[in-house]
Amino acid sequence: MLWISSPRAAEVEPYSCVAEFYDHLMRHVNYPRWADYVMALFALADHPESAAPAQRGSGRRVSHVLELACGTGQLLTELARSGYQVYGCDRAQAMVAAARRRLLQHGLPASVWCADMRAVVTQIEVDAVLCLYDSINYCLQEEDLQHLFIGVGQLVRSGGLFIFDICTQHNCRRNFRDYVEKDATADFSYTRHAYYKPYQRLQYNEFIIVDEANRDRVLREKHLQRIYTIKEIRAQVAASGRWREVACYSGMSRRPGSEKAERVHFVLKRIPGSEPAASGSDPR
Ligand SMILES: C[S@@+](CC[C@H](N)C(=O)[O-])C[C@H]1O[C@@H](n2cnc3c(N)ncnc32)[C@H](O)[C@@H]1O
Repeated sequence: MLWISSPRAAEVEPYSCVAEFYDHLMRHVNYPRWADYVMALFALADHPESAAPAQRGSGRRVSHVLELACGTGQLLTELARSGYQVYGCDRAQAMVAAARRRLLQHGLPASVWCADMRAVVTQIEVDAVLCLYDSINYCLQEEDLQHLFIGVGQLVRSGGLFIFDICTQHNCRRNFRDYVEKDATADFSYTRHAYYKPYQRLQYNEFIIVDEANRDRVLREKHLQRIYTIKEIRAQVAASGRWREVACYSGMSRRPGSEKAERVHFVLKRIPGSEPAASGSDPR
């Protein structure tokens, strides 16, 4: 395995420094298009209970949206600009700060806070919860997925949606089996080494980052993600007892979700009466 060793690098928390150049790293991602896709999926919540089973909802439109693992808030900003009332949270403080900055720069309310997606507590009840761009793959154990599916069921109204994607094994094998990228922004230069261990079904991303303002400051971030099959996700959804799957699509399409796609989107609808909204502590 190829790896660029850097003994002087100091290990830091995932996304604590990558946050500084995350938007550069993700410059290939078309967030406006992704937001359009998500907004089209929101329509699945609008159908009344009298509609066909796969389309049933409460008949209420989506207006309040919470994004878990919102990163630097690119998708949140697109949704807010389209008129949605948005909220976001992320485990990494530096990502939260970047998301707040972005929303404020656009003159939008910045209701973004630091929280682990597996244990979010809020007093607001939203119409839809999102968790996108492989973020769910940061749940390393099936128990983490259970906490997530049960917890999100307490954040969203009856008939509301949970929309998330997963990175597939096909994507890891094809694009990130052993991938090295070197790049730089005005402030940082970095080397990213992505490698996939199929027998563990773990995707590693390791960054060595040099602060260009002080080249003695060399940092290392290690990101670890578990790759689940569609079947495994479905088993966890069913075990939670909170959700009915209304759609599973390959990439940003309406084609059925396939292990041959690089990414699969799930659209879940909260089963009416499955769990009342949480009476959490902090109003957000
Ligand atoms: C690949 S980024 C995706 C960010 C954003 N959704 C996007 O589309 O750009 C993954 C994000 O997940 C966050 N994350 C990882 N584990 C988390 C957890 N347990 N709870 C909340 N956020 C988490 C990271 O801090 C990071 O911002």
